[in-house]
Amino acid sequence: MCGIIGYVGNKDAVQILLDGLTRLEYRGYDSAGIATVVDSEFNILRRVGRVANLIDAVDRVSIAGFVGIGHTRWATHGVVSEKNAHPHQSAHGLFSIAHNGVIENYESIREFLLGKGFTFESETDTEILVNLIEYHFNKEQDPENKFLKSVQKALFHVRGTYGIAVLCKDYANEIVVARKSSPLLIGIGSGEMFVASDASAIAQHTRDVVYLNDGEIARLTPSDFFITTLRNESVDVVKCELDWRVEDADRGGYEHYMLKEIFEQPKALENAMRGRFSDDLSTARFGGLRMSTRELRQVDRILFCACGTAWIACLVAEYLIEKYARIPVEVEYASEFRYQNSPLDKNTLIFVISQSGETLDTMAALQEAKRKGFRTLAITNVVGSAIARESDGGIYQHSGPEIGVASTKAFTAQICIAAMLALYLGRMRDMSFEDGALFVQALHDLPSVVEDVLAQGDVIEKIAEKYAHHDDMLFLGRQAMFPIALEGALKLKEISYMHSEGYPAAEMKHGPIALVSEKCPCFFLATQERILQKNVANIQEVRSRRAKVIAVATAGSELTEKFVDDLILVPNVHAALQPIVATIPVQLFAYYVAKFRGCDIDKPRNLAKSVTVE
Ligand code: AGP
Repeated sequence: MCGIIGYVGNKDAVQILLDGLTRLEYRGYDSAGIATVVDSEFNILRRVGRVANLIDAVDRVSIAGFVGIGHTRWATHGVVSEKNAHPHQSAHGLFSIAHNGVIENYESIREFLLGKGFTFESETDTEILVNLIEYHFNKEQDPENKFLKSVQKALFHVRGTYGIAVLCKDYANEIVVARKSSPLLIGIGSGEMFVASDASAIAQHTRDVVYLNDGEIARLTPSDFFITTLRNESVDVVKCELDWRVEDADRGGYEHYMLKEIFEQPKALENAMRGRFSDDLSTARFGGLRMSTRELRQVDRILFCACGTAWIACLVAEYLIEKYARIPVEVEYASEFRYQNSPLDKNTLIFVISQSGETLDTMAALQEAKRKGFRTLAITNVVGSAIARESDGGIYQHSGPEIGVASTKAFTAQICIAAMLALYLGRMRDMSFEDGALFVQALHDLPSVVEDVLAQGDVIEKIAEKYAHHDDMLFLGRQAMFPIALEGALKLKEISYMHSEGYPAAEMKHGPIALVSEKCPCFFLATQERILQKNVANIQEVRSRRAKVIAVATAGSELTEKFVDDLILVPNVHAALQPIVATIPVQLFAYYVAKFRGCDIDKPRNLAKSVTVE
């Protein structure tokens, strides 16, 4: 939800902080700020709006230092204002803090601190925390590690979530960092150390990192780092090498990250499949599930949990696994599953899907499933992410960094992996060698098929221009096209702010058709020839109410221009892969509508890339 960067070393901290914030801005962009320590004094600069505003402000003042922290905010407590921007300073000016998360018991702590004479400037929960740290510092008698101990003791009293980076004027060569549910990783340099919310901010400086775990706290100095827990327990430090390439996180000449990532999908699909087919090319194989074939054959039910677009990917997985592996599948919103205590068969396998691997609701669902003793697997895009580390095994998407807030290449990679999972499980059950081989061949051909659909970008842009002025739109599809209708509606609403809803096409008659008029066009996902006549009937129902109709159909279909106002044809592919192929037009449609409406496509209002609050 917010982005944090910290640096301590022998270089100009300010430039490193600003570069890092620019790369972290997709995590939240309401306001931004930096703090450095020079001659035992803080230099703090904060600005409302984008990081660019902060950079302009820094250019006009002389702010320097070899140690500093930076923050780009997605507001949770307190309006978007300079006063509420991070970093926050403690009442007597001893500490400065950048925080990602929510302090749930901040009111009671605030009352306690007011009673101790502390004053507050902002409306944020974060300012409570930095003052609590100062309170403990003033009480701490042991001069050894006084800074670290003060933060430890303060966090002991905190309920909620945090990823924090803290500076202290009296310890100008250190940063103290801590994590609980909000991601933080330490970057190990030569004579310098970094801390960041994710790898994008530090990949250009170092590839050697340590991911902090929940409950861990660390002290960084230019030459070293020390990790412990709030109870001073020793921890096993696991050093990792980043698989990020900085150039992957650049826009690569595209106008928006989202457009770049839409066009990266053929490559992302290749990466999702690479090395994951059997030698006889009749099934898929996954190395990270850590389950034997015998164990997988015992699975008699699968539950998928996720949020947002990842939850829609779960719906596609349900259709595919039930159809091709004949295993009953349930799908739950992660935020619902964690509280509803669903009765589940003991042989239920639980999957979570998360591009970022940091979504708090999804992590909480995963932890709830583990508490109940279920085996948990994760499909995620970020190696070393919290969800990847918490689950019992899983499948990495290898999609590369996804910077655009609206998920595109990660989504199609997730449903590609779901298709491969359906194949893998199906071949352990009733799917024949021949059917498996046809499935594998269709997967092999998929990237080039997606290239063909992407080549229709100009056609889809022209269609989008015709509909960009509307205020409402319905997306409709049957069977595995229903989740794609949901995804089309989600993409459109989150980047163009046009109200849009997705429904099963037949369901439209049971209420939503009341919305249908010339002011509410309908977008049909109608690629399945087997039920074409049903879709044609629904199309005629809405057109008889003067609604305009866009349809995605399969090349050679009987659904031709005479039935609709705008038609997008996609290649005829294996039924299991139609959801992927049909997704490309809805992504491009949403992108171009948002572009015509002048929206901020990569940083839509009120959104953030990774939702690490509840
Ligand atoms: C997708 O377009 C949205 N930005 C959002 O719904 C996202 O899919 C959701 O927050 C889940 O994120 P995750 O995959 O990183 O867990």
